[in-house]
Amino acid sequence: MNYNNLAKAEAIPEASSMIETFRAIGYNLETAIADIIDNSISAQAKNIYINRIWQGGKSVITIKDDGEGMNSEEIIQAMRPGAQNPLTDRLETDLGRFGLGLKTASFSQCRKLTVLSKRKKETPAFWSWDLDYVAQSHKWELLQWIPEEFTHELDSQLSGTLVVWSDLDRILPLQTAETDDNAKRKFSDALDKVKNHIAMVFHRFIEEKSIKIFWCGHEIEAWNPFCINESKTQEQSTDTINGGVKMKGYVLPHKNNFSTEQAYKKAEGIKGYPAMQGFYVYRGKRLLLAGDWLGLFRPEEHYKLVRIQIDLPNSLDSDWQIDIKKSKAYPPAVCREQLESYAKSVRSKGTEVYRHIGKILKQRAGQTFQPLWLEKKKDSKWSFVINREHLMIQDLKNLAKEKPEQAIETLLKFLEEAIPTKTIYINEAQGEETQKTPFSDMDTNILKSTLAIMFENQIKQGKTPEQAKAYLKTIEPFNNFEDLIEDLQ
Ligand SMILES: Nc1ncnc2c1ncn2[C@@H]1O[C@H](COP(=O)(O)OP(=O)(O)O)[C@@H](O)[C@H]1O
Ligand SMILES: [Mg+2]
Repeated sequence: MNYNNLAKAEAIPEASSMIETFRAIGYNLETAIADIIDNSISAQAKNIYINRIWQGGKSVITIKDDGEGMNSEEIIQAMRPGAQNPLTDRLETDLGRFGLGLKTASFSQCRKLTVLSKRKKETPAFWSWDLDYVAQSHKWELLQWIPEEFTHELDSQLSGTLVVWSDLDRILPLQTAETDDNAKRKFSDALDKVKNHIAMVFHRFIEEKSIKIFWCGHEIEAWNPFCINESKTQEQSTDTINGGVKMKGYVLPHKNNFSTEQAYKKAEGIKGYPAMQGFYVYRGKRLLLAGDWLGLFRPEEHYKLVRIQIDLPNSLDSDWQIDIKKSKAYPPAVCREQLESYAKSVRSKGTEVYRHIGKILKQRAGQTFQPLWLEKKKDSKWSFVINREHLMIQDLKNLAKEKPEQAIETLLKFLEEAIPTKTIYINEAQGEETQKTPFSDMDTNILKSTLAIMFENQIKQGKTPEQAKAYLKTIEPFNNFEDLIEDLQ
């Protein structure tokens, strides 16, 4: 297309409304702070300090690092929305993507964003975005302003950056009094959640000791989703798909097989076991997505011990449609099939661990385990039958000769207690095979003779044949066989 001879008109986004839309991208406090930490890591920081200062409505959150820092020009560039084109190649270690994170993450929480930064051997510089000023001026204009208490914050460091969020209107009302204890508690609760999120998102950095993250002065410990230090965790073999995407499955131990109860509790993670199952997608060492089946499966109770690590090279970002918040990913169609089949195999191991089927018994002295109910499969229909070979059934048959009442009662009791509900539930939820229709393959002669006996008893008790038939139709399972009942003489 030849653009030269076309008339043109400038259509610059209106500053105040555009910047308001940045606020609505859908970050929460956790994902917003994680995005700021990404920048620190990309800038080679070794130590990152997150702090909150309670001052009622004037409270602030700060994130400070000892990375390379920026000079005044570079801060201005960093403050520009869309500072870097998402299509340009990034270093393997760069956790940025759209050139928006610093701005969108910050504005999702606060109305004033200040960046103070210092390059080695240079004096610190600072700039601020102030949404109130943008609303007033309608200009994309930064202010050279910093909350006074932070002016000297980087003086003792060789280099680094301080990000200050003030006017935290998305976290608490700006007119909140400093003495409002209720609001204060809410504020610190919200921030405690962030701590756990960070322990998870950056666990690999923390584990390999390349970075320390401090939370109000306390060093954050890594939270590893895969319980690799638990001896009963089942590690699956690694598989590589398309373009270097790596998958590695883990099945966490059954509750009874964790080393300690605390370890089991800790491993449950921020959302609890059922919600933490699924894929854990990493770009570089950074966790993007935790516990998500990527639309391939639904989360189910019996897969709650299954977690699968996926490593994406950051060159694959756009194929996987990583969003601005780095909290969503959509695998490309070519990967889905392989992800699905790998996940299926890990999931089936996960179900076994979840069911915890008579393993201990099986191993004892080479004896075979005797279940009371046996699972039966025929033409991809499943059902359960009583194990007639079960030792107890044999014994009860003998008992029945002398004490039939007691034998039947005992038998019923045992059957009630041993109903394989977990397996039934799993079969039903997996939905790949269906349950056999009750009585669909039963010998009708057995039904007929049982019906005949019951019919006769009813007549003996003085019922007319019509009354007896009507009565039998109300009894499970005979209600399913009205025609057999009609045939009774
Ligand atoms: N803590 C920091 N230290 C050094 N440079 C930073 C820091 N935070 C942001 N920057 C610079 O600002 C740029 C824009 O950041 P951001 O808006 O998060 O977009 P992105 O991370 O996608 O590049 C970064 O690419 C980086 O050059
Ligand atoms: Mg960034």
